[in-house]
Amino acid sequence: MVISGKTRVCGVIGDPIAHTLSPTIQNAAFNHLKLDFVFLAFRVKPADLENAIRGMRGLGIHGLNVTMPHKSAVIKYLDQLDSTVQFLGSANTILNRDGKLFGFNTDGIGALKALQENGVALYDKKVLLLGAGGAAKAIAFAFAEEIGELVILNRAAEKAAELAAALNRVFGTKIVGGALSQSAVQQNLQDADILVNATSVGMHPNVNQSLVPAQWLKPDLAVMDIVYNPVETKLAKDAKAAGAKVISGVEMLIHQGAASFEIWTGCPAPVEVMRQAALSQLSSAGAEK
Ligand SMILES: NC(=O)c1ccc[n+]([C@@H]2O[C@H](COP(=O)([O-])OP(=O)(O)OC[C@H]3O[C@@H](n4cnc5c(N)ncnc54)[C@H](OP(=O)(O)O)[C@@H]3O)[C@@H](O)[C@H]2O)c1
Repeated sequence: MVISGKTRVCGVIGDPIAHTLSPTIQNAAFNHLKLDFVFLAFRVKPADLENAIRGMRGLGIHGLNVTMPHKSAVIKYLDQLDSTVQFLGSANTILNRDGKLFGFNTDGIGALKALQENGVALYDKKVLLLGAGGAAKAIAFAFAEEIGELVILNRAAEKAAELAAALNRVFGTKIVGGALSQSAVQQNLQDADILVNATSVGMHPNVNQSLVPAQWLKPDLAVMDIVYNPVETKLAKDAKAAGAKVISGVEMLIHQGAASFEIWTGCPAPVEVMRQAALSQLSSAGAEK
């Protein structure tokens, strides 16, 4: 990689940021396509967010990914929001076009692509979505038009109910939201085609936790756990053992990163290169633990 006066700068802002995979994934893609871009990580504390976005304008930074805890707070500093960001109230991607900042959210399309590219069709299917946080909301919004039935279960039941009501207002669908009780999970799994864990349960260091007892998983189910650290969660292991089709959280991570890459560069993303870069960093991080 040769950095010159013409190199375009992209990056990710968040706090903490030290363990982000984005520089590895995005620089691998830029290098592969020989694009004159570089991608850096910036730790930005909440009190510095406004200055960071001013800095993006002042320095002519071309694109940013936005991660925890800034995805919602950042939108008031942007000039134009796409319809997904307007619904979600959160952005994970900014494009600086001639000094005007455009906000996007690629989490939902990342999840949709992760399923589609792995041979799981959503049309007319029943999806059971666990969680109603930022990622779950993005996934529900992206899935709502395609699926036949969507049930959203969350520990804080009112968040699931509010999300379902907001989606029904937009799409005129019959999306149901309720409490994440064991009986609700068991009952909905009986006729679900696709299960998505969009909670943080099972994430490092709580790698032995899962919201779904192994005996409720079945071969005709597709299971996506959006947790990507570890790469194979307890839910994913149990689903695999039950004969279900399993899609890892790394797939969503890659595809949301690929969508951001395409917004910044206008080029089709080299998805396989990005996948290998992510898996390689995750396996070396795993080896350090
Ligand atoms: N693969 C990817 O590309 C990708 C992208 C984004 C996020 N993620 C991962 O997705 C997970 C959620 O991220 P987020 O941004 O949506 O976070 P968030 O907005 O903080 O939401 C967290 C969700 O997890 C639920 N939860 C947390 N602890 C729980 C527990 N012990 N039992 C039941 N539910 C619990 C929360 O329920 P309450 O509302 O009841 O608290 C909420 O629904 C994280 O692990 C994150 O790393 C992956």
